[in-house]
Amino acid sequence: MIRSPLMTVMVDAVMKAAKGLRRDFGEIENLQVSRKGPGDFVSQADLKAEAMLHDSLLKARPDFGFVMEEGGIVKGNDESHRWHIDPLDGTLNFLHGMPHFSVSVGLEREGQMVAGVVYDPIKDELFIAEKGKGAFLNNRRLRVSGRNDLMECMIGTGIPSSAKRDLPTYMKEMAHVTARTAGVRRLGSAALDLSYVAAGRLDGFWETGLSSWDIAAGVVLVREAGGFVSDGNGSDYKVTGNSILVANTSVHGQLVQALKEARAS
Ligand code: IPD
Ligand code: CA
Ligand code: CA
Repeated sequence: MIRSPLMTVMVDAVMKAAKGLRRDFGEIENLQVSRKGPGDFVSQADLKAEAMLHDSLLKARPDFGFVMEEGGIVKGNDESHRWHIDPLDGTLNFLHGMPHFSVSVGLEREGQMVAGVVYDPIKDELFIAEKGKGAFLNNRRLRVSGRNDLMECMIGTGIPSSAKRDLPTYMKEMAHVTARTAGVRRLGSAALDLSYVAAGRLDGFWETGLSSWDIAAGVVLVREAGGFVSDGNGSDYKVTGNSILVANTSVHGQLVQALKEARAS
């Protein structure tokens, strides 16, 4: 697979930031047992990774704008391009020494997500996708799963933190989906959840209360792997939206229906 110049820029930036995170993750075990705990250390690791991503991408594409989890929105001279950056997706996992987190970078062009990179530094899994060029995991082409019976599906989700959203409504959704599928998983990194749908590991995924940087890269991966992307209600996904529902095309409608029934129950 030959990478485009744009993809090369994105992968290089992500790999550089991930190197620091991998090293910092190695320190977490020691900090778990310290009285102060790893909280501040993780915030520093997060900020360092974001600064690295910002610097590399700015150097390569000086006119593009940024939407960053930590640094906020930075306008570029070229208003049609914006990077959406999550330097560490799965912070809670990282903080607890759980080896499941990622670096995620998505590119928006004129309101559409057109390229995405999600990297898991612990498993050394690099998920990349560019609009019209397919989705890949470490150079292997990705396809969403072929299952069409919801009852056989494994579905990913994100449980909202109490501050984020009406928990009782979410619990209804969870109960409905659990009863209608083979199982539900909460893995803790939305960027990887979407990558896993692209890879056919999960048959679908839904979550509400997200930000653009959590899912920017993942939506391109799912689409390019042949999956269907919508907001949490089954309507068109928008860059500015905060909910997501993805699945292969046969399961997507069934999942929308199950969630609708759950909310009405
Ligand atoms: C979080 C993760 C998690 C999701 C949360 C996100 P963070 O991002 O993606 O899986 O459930 O809603 O905020 O805080 O680890 O970057
Ligand atoms: Ca983050
Ligand atoms: Ca995130």
